[in-house]
Amino acid sequence: MPESLTFPPDFLWGAATSAYQIEGAVREDGRTPSIWDTFSHTPGKVAFDENGDTAVDHYHRYRDDVAMMAGLNLRAYRFSVSWSRVQPTGRGPAVQRGLDFYRRLVDELLEHGIEPALTLYHWDLPQELEDAGGWPERETAYRFAEYAALLGEALGDRVERWMTVNEPWCAAFLGYSSGVHAPGRTDPAASLRAAHHLNLAHGLATSALRGVLPARAAIALSLNSQVIRALTDDPADADAQRRVDNLANGVFHGPVLQGAYPASLFTDTAGLTDWSFVKDGDLAACHQPVEALGLNYYTPVLVSAKSSTPAGPIATNHGVSEHSPWPGADDVTFHQPPGECTEMGWAIDPSGLYDLITRYSRMRPDLQLYVTENGAAYDDKLETDGQVNDPERIAYLHGHLRAVHRAIADGADVRGYYLWSLMDNFEWAHGYSKRFGAVYVDYPTQTRTPKASALWYAERARTGELPA
Ligand code: NOJ
Repeated sequence: MPESLTFPPDFLWGAATSAYQIEGAVREDGRTPSIWDTFSHTPGKVAFDENGDTAVDHYHRYRDDVAMMAGLNLRAYRFSVSWSRVQPTGRGPAVQRGLDFYRRLVDELLEHGIEPALTLYHWDLPQELEDAGGWPERETAYRFAEYAALLGEALGDRVERWMTVNEPWCAAFLGYSSGVHAPGRTDPAASLRAAHHLNLAHGLATSALRGVLPARAAIALSLNSQVIRALTDDPADADAQRRVDNLANGVFHGPVLQGAYPASLFTDTAGLTDWSFVKDGDLAACHQPVEALGLNYYTPVLVSAKSSTPAGPIATNHGVSEHSPWPGADDVTFHQPPGECTEMGWAIDPSGLYDLITRYSRMRPDLQLYVTENGAAYDDKLETDGQVNDPERIAYLHGHLRAVHRAIADGADVRGYYLWSLMDNFEWAHGYSKRFGAVYVDYPTQTRTPKASALWYAERARTGELPA
């Protein structure tokens, strides 16, 4: 048994964030409200009625934050652009001041030798587009392609890594079916339309970016493809697993990576929609060549058919709702997977990350794979000696990086890993109550303190070695 596991020399050791979760400055430089501004300012939607108005003030502190990343030996940084900052109404020409912020951020990263990886959509749709119907409307996909082209023209000379959409499952099903995320709608049929239009948005944006980006650019999307496990090997549980797998994964990777929706998805959801919103040519438009695939992984999902087992707790990973985020799967029971949990109540299971990577590596061996998010929330405390000791997070990262290493050893082309998150931030419906950061943020003062896990991770990034 070797003492340490060695990662490939060009492996990208990164960290990730998203615009609404960290930037703040929501009314500055021409930015208008996104659906998350509206949602978080609606009483009762976010824990303690918190919002991203200030968040961790990254809009003003980005220089210090980039210096901090460099101090942690990061080689890549995944961030997202706030659509309403650069195209406030979701249409028309770009706002220069908005673009300038991202240009300054990217330049700062490049000066520190950190590769920028830009996500176009991390859930913050301009409110005006939601008022016009949001993702259930086809027009939103066209608007997104136009926005992608604006960004590509503005930053294509300095950003090589592009991601269209982050976790379309959350955007479609938490946003429009369970309603625990913005815009908070609870209409399962609309959530399926939203899913299709997010796929179309990815495809149209990819084509639009191809028209404006230099040939060296790599385009990807980040899926929170989920590892769905059946409680028993009873055929009824296997069928529940298949149906949830369609709704978690096939509904996105089908059109985007394989050029077709799984046929059984149509029959499973026939009571909700006839899918007539999928127009001729849409599947080809969704199925664009891409260079890379991003996978976000935190925890597996355990299901059974309702008939075969007593009902388990109704777990939705991002908050409690009486409305299901799984349209057409009302007769499936969701169970808490066994084992220890993080502060989110999410079971810790690194083998799920291995299974996910190897599944997509088999499905599309031509694609470079990146773990675009992985990490854990814990109830971290700033000690009186100024340190934050988070051994559980170190153990979580260690276990999951081992799984990545094992997948690479077994032939998967994994090129990098972005820890979620660089620093504590606004955790959507949980507000600031859940800390995912490698860096601790003291919210009243905005002081940043690298946790023990950040220093541990910095050592992995410096050496490319992981204790075995
Ligand atoms: C996935 C999302 O992309 C990110 O925004 C979120 O904070 C993490 N999961 C943790 O829930």
